[in-house]
Amino acid sequence: MTGGPVAGDPSRQTWSSATYDENVRFVSELGKGVVDWLAPRAGERILDLGCGDGALTIALRDAGADVVGVDSSDDFVQAARERGLDARLMDAHALTFSREFDAVFSNAALHWMIEPEKVVAGIARALKPGGRFVAEFGGHGNVAAITTAMRAVGAAMGGDVSAAGPWYFPTEAEYSALLGTHGLEVSRITRFPRPTPLPTGMRGWLETMRAPFFDQFGDRRDEAMARVLDALAPSLSDSAGNWTADYMRLRVEAVLAAA
Ligand code: BEZ
Repeated sequence: MTGGPVAGDPSRQTWSSATYDENVRFVSELGKGVVDWLAPRAGERILDLGCGDGALTIALRDAGADVVGVDSSDDFVQAARERGLDARLMDAHALTFSREFDAVFSNAALHWMIEPEKVVAGIARALKPGGRFVAEFGGHGNVAAITTAMRAVGAAMGGDVSAAGPWYFPTEAEYSALLGTHGLEVSRITRFPRPTPLPTGMRGWLETMRAPFFDQFGDRRDEAMARVLDALAPSLSDSAGNWTADYMRLRVEAVLAAA
């Protein structure tokens, strides 16, 4: 996942660690609650799935854990390595680990992985028996207003509406059932709204998270952006022009059945 959209494919998102840092640094800052659920211990071997630039992976390492981070973005893996982390380029749909981790951790990444059966199968395989999986990501209803506005504008402008939101946002019941089919028993799970202030506004968020949707409109790109912002302003911007995203988090802990 490196800088900029993929030409001709409005559904694909790519990443630049610099843009991410400027527009959505809050992602790792708000991840501290899920780190508390993980409660990493010294000497544990932990896999950080979708580690990004490693901002939270460092917190696990500082707790004394032996951490491996994986991400499918070259740019992010490079940035994480520059922090001195063991970061590897790997697609979470095809994890290659077997029975080697005390815990698998993930923050704000699983909603990008749209074949969750493959991801969960890989997590279960990576864990030692009795190991735990602790994660937080977008739950059902996440960014509902934002995606609804994009879909409405996309339809009105004759675009590909599916490019508005390619994410996986399950309910508690749906995700618990999926984990259960892979021997991961849920010990706690919660879904909660977390309205999130956007430091560079809604435009910055949309440019970072959903550029491919807007790119499809070519020379009408600015118009599409303006229409989405107009539609969202009454509900997600305050009178001083401060924007908030309508985030809904799913936080889960599950334990792999002992062999
Ligand atoms: C999230 O963290 O909830 C999220 C990030 C990007 C796109 C959609 C949702």
